[in-house]
Amino acid sequence: MINDSIFLKALNKEKLSTPPIWYMRQAGRYMPEYRAVRKNFKNFLDMCKNPDVCCELAMQPIEAFNLDAAILFSDILTIPDAMGLGVKFLEGEGPVFDNPIKTNKDVINIPPFNPNDLDYVYKAVNNIRRALPSNIPLIGFAGSPWTLAAYSIEGRSSKNFNSTKDFIKNNEEESHIFLTKLTDACFLYLRKQVEAGANVLQIFDSWANLLNKEQYKKYSLHYIEILIQALKNDSVTKNIPVILFSRDPKCDPQFLVSTKADCLSLYWSMNNLNINSLNNKIALQGNLNPEVLLQSDELIQLEVNKILEKFKNFNGYIFNLGHGITPNIDPNKVKYLTNLVRSY
Ligand code: CP3
Repeated sequence: MINDSIFLKALNKEKLSTPPIWYMRQAGRYMPEYRAVRKNFKNFLDMCKNPDVCCELAMQPIEAFNLDAAILFSDILTIPDAMGLGVKFLEGEGPVFDNPIKTNKDVINIPPFNPNDLDYVYKAVNNIRRALPSNIPLIGFAGSPWTLAAYSIEGRSSKNFNSTKDFIKNNEEESHIFLTKLTDACFLYLRKQVEAGANVLQIFDSWANLLNKEQYKKYSLHYIEILIQALKNDSVTKNIPVILFSRDPKCDPQFLVSTKADCLSLYWSMNNLNINSLNNKIALQGNLNPEVLLQSDELIQLEVNKILEKFKNFNGYIFNLGHGITPNIDPNKVKYLTNLVRSY
């Protein structure tokens, strides 16, 4: 039964003797099983368009580490791809857009988002839900409107996203129009994922760190709040817990709490949080630095103990990393970490 899930119990702010465990980017290049499947596809997005393959990939970390939640295998950039921006993942380069947003006209000309264009994602959700044990929830996800806008305007990954920063300064009105279109698309997309079987939703604000405090509220948190409100007001999604991951935000964590997310996924450097003041108000997830997994077993143990001590008296703590597992991490370290947390 899904109600037996310790992950859902933690999201419901229940006190548990052992925290549930899952990892951001738990399916990916660090696993040899993943690389064996990946080599059959040139373009990563073509692999995401195959629901059977997505199911196999999402199940790999569940089978390898016996985790307490699975995450949909897909990518956040499916939405801009469906909007006609032409997303490709090139070898060693990350995502590259054929038609990035360059002018305010490009924003106006974006065709209406049709959630049915992403049927391949909902089919993957359905396959994974059916493959999972009944007590293991499936996490559906979307990028935040701001993070999707940043990729769509920049047209590729970048260190400082200077074109995006210039665009929002010079085209304020169109920026808000674009963010509104993305917010509507995220809502329709997440609702379809829930209809297909997703039990929990996570919003990835992976480029939160680009904005200062004022900009962050205006360009990102505002739209996340609208998105969460739409999910909470909809009959299909109203009871689905929403987790918010915000990468290194330049604002008081209290602003993240006011989005009404059910759980905050804490970035690894996010230590300015008064945990006691949040007890029973919101669940918390994270925030071990993924680089710790490159260290010795002794050092891993030391850092894990620090985290588990920190959250010991918190009702609704979910063990996770403060950002995704990177390709250079040894799967044996992931196994070691998981066993450590379970035997604490
Ligand atoms: O277990 C999982 O989490 C798998 C599902 C998943 C992927 N991407 C698969 C993926 C999820 C939840 C994501 C989210 C995602 N995608 C985010 C938010 C999380 C974060 O790390 O902040 C972001 C920013 C993206 C965009 C993206 N996707 C980039 C920039 C890249 C290339 C660089 C990189 O990190 O690899 C991807 C590609 C990608 N998405 C891969 C995987 C497994 C690797 C692709 C490959 O094998 O070539």
